[in-house]
Amino acid sequence: MKTIVAVDLNWGIGYKGSLLVKIPEDMSFFKKMTLGKVVIMGRETFESLPGKEPLEGRKNIILSRKEGYRDNRITICHTLDDIFDVIKEYNSDDVFVIGGESVYKQLLPFCKEAYITKIEHRYDADKFFNDLDSNESWELASTSDLKTYKGIKYRFTKYVNSKLLSENCG
Ligand SMILES: NC(=O)c1ccc[n+]([C@@H]2O[C@H](COP(=O)([O-])OP(=O)(O)OC[C@H]3O[C@@H](n4cnc5c(N)ncnc54)[C@H](OP(=O)(O)O)[C@@H]3O)[C@@H](O)[C@H]2O)c1
Repeated sequence: MKTIVAVDLNWGIGYKGSLLVKIPEDMSFFKKMTLGKVVIMGRETFESLPGKEPLEGRKNIILSRKEGYRDNRITICHTLDDIFDVIKEYNSDDVFVIGGESVYKQLLPFCKEAYITKIEHRYDADKFFNDLDSNESWELASTSDLKTYKGIKYRFTKYVNSKLLSENCG
């Protein structure tokens, strides 16, 4: 599986249940990368989506411990093992972990690539992604030119995991 996230200079990803900032080109990149694929997210992130609607054109897998949680538009998993079981039938390159903080942290060791939009600003944040620059398992593989939206500078980067854990060990 792979992961995709937008982080600020502190590796912050969210504040009070929302994204730190919405950059249109980043939103388009996220859509282009995940369309037609499987997306895995935590219940909090699912409920933060516009209109609490599943992401269109993608298989939405939601992780929740709530036994009574029901929504026939999505696939609900109660454990990581449930997720590994559901995604067995998909090519792992087509499975994206899309947040939030708790789900990124648990599934990062199983991700072989991380698409990280790095926003060159420090926001107030209460949710964070692991600092991959200080993580010996991860290496920066590529980085785009610096881009700007309304004065906000950002880059698209890709990291690769040299110590990938197998989903079968999950
Ligand atoms: N910058 C970005 O790219 C990006 C992307 C996505 C999200 N975000 C931000 O991240 C924040 C949300 O992150 P979060 O950590 O609060 O929430 P989250 O990871 O989206 O969801 C947490 C919920 O997932 C369920 N869960 C987590 N681990 C589980 C496990 N092992 N088994 C069963 N269920 C499990 C639980 O649901 P129940 O409570 O139902 O049991 C838990 O409360 C928001 O601010 C959002 O905007 C940012």
